[in-house]
Amino acid sequence: MSETLNTLEQTALESLQAVDSNDALLAWQGKYFGTKRSKGELDAALSALGTLPPAERPSFGKRANEVKQKLLAALDTRKEQIKQLELAKELQSGAVDVTLPGRPIRRGRLHPSTQALRRITRIFGQMGFEAYQSREVETDELNFELLNMPAEHPARDMWDTFYTTTPGVILRTHTSPGQIHAMRERGENGTKPIRVILPGMVYRYEQVTARSEMQFNQVEGIAVGRGITLADLKGVFVEFARHMFGADGQIRFRCSYFPFTEPSVEIDVWLGTATERARVLTKGTGWLEIGGAGMVHPQVLKNGGYDPAEWSGFAFGLGPERQAMRLYGINDIRYFWQNDLRFLEQF
Ligand code: PHE
Repeated sequence: MSETLNTLEQTALESLQAVDSNDALLAWQGKYFGTKRSKGELDAALSALGTLPPAERPSFGKRANEVKQKLLAALDTRKEQIKQLELAKELQSGAVDVTLPGRPIRRGRLHPSTQALRRITRIFGQMGFEAYQSREVETDELNFELLNMPAEHPARDMWDTFYTTTPGVILRTHTSPGQIHAMRERGENGTKPIRVILPGMVYRYEQVTARSEMQFNQVEGIAVGRGITLADLKGVFVEFARHMFGADGQIRFRCSYFPFTEPSVEIDVWLGTATERARVLTKGTGWLEIGGAGMVHPQVLKNGGYDPAEWSGFAFGLGPERQAMRLYGINDIRYFWQNDLRFLEQF
């Protein structure tokens, strides 16, 4: 009979060594000493006492008690060990290595185009122009027809267009449809003067080169009032160039043609020809074109709700990327949308 006790003692002690968590310890305790709901193996062995011949009972009882004390002592020791073990585990997992260098926080910044856009917007804002946002997906009617370019008009060739699968819906090739939106929405049926700028992205199905991209920003501007002349346009741009390019920021107007302005001009800023970069950017002329402009065509005024006999206005469209190139010395417009952080982080 004491064989049973010996085996029990041995397996209990052995399995206790494998116990390595509080939960396992509780299970072990339950197995040998019982729980509220079940008898432990030790008690089960003891209940055999009554079946033994009386002579063997004292020694069996003594041995059983020994085993019980031994297991209790072993349990206490293991309990303490596990406590240390769990503590060590906890300390290790929660450890903070104070000698590690901190992780640097990468500071974001505005894209150079956005910076240029905001700068342009601010300058015109100071001259009383309201900033206004217009849609990038436009109708053929707004992008061309109402700007004096009916279907098949040869001037449409000036803008290589991205068409959508919906007939009559295109990606705007310039911000000029915003002129119509602005006149119609702000002009109160041709009764109120307006002074609006419209910054935003435009799209052209173009050969991508160092000077032209197929997506870029424009800032459209339009001022409609009584008695506005080309001299006002000129005055506004002399002022603009001074703020944008500094006191030496020279501009010039060149005669040009747009179907929606009459007369039409193109506006250049002086880059000079002293450096290779300036020569490349200006195709050797020293002048960099920054946009087109002119007096709003009478038909376009009409399309915007104004009576051209009473009202007149000027409009312009500027390319902020070109100006950012001039401001920051960027020699290739393709950098703008390559998303190369080495480029973007310089601004
Ligand atoms: N929309 C013209 C372009 O993209 C620029 C322009 C705007 C010209 C307003 C005149 C008036 O080329």
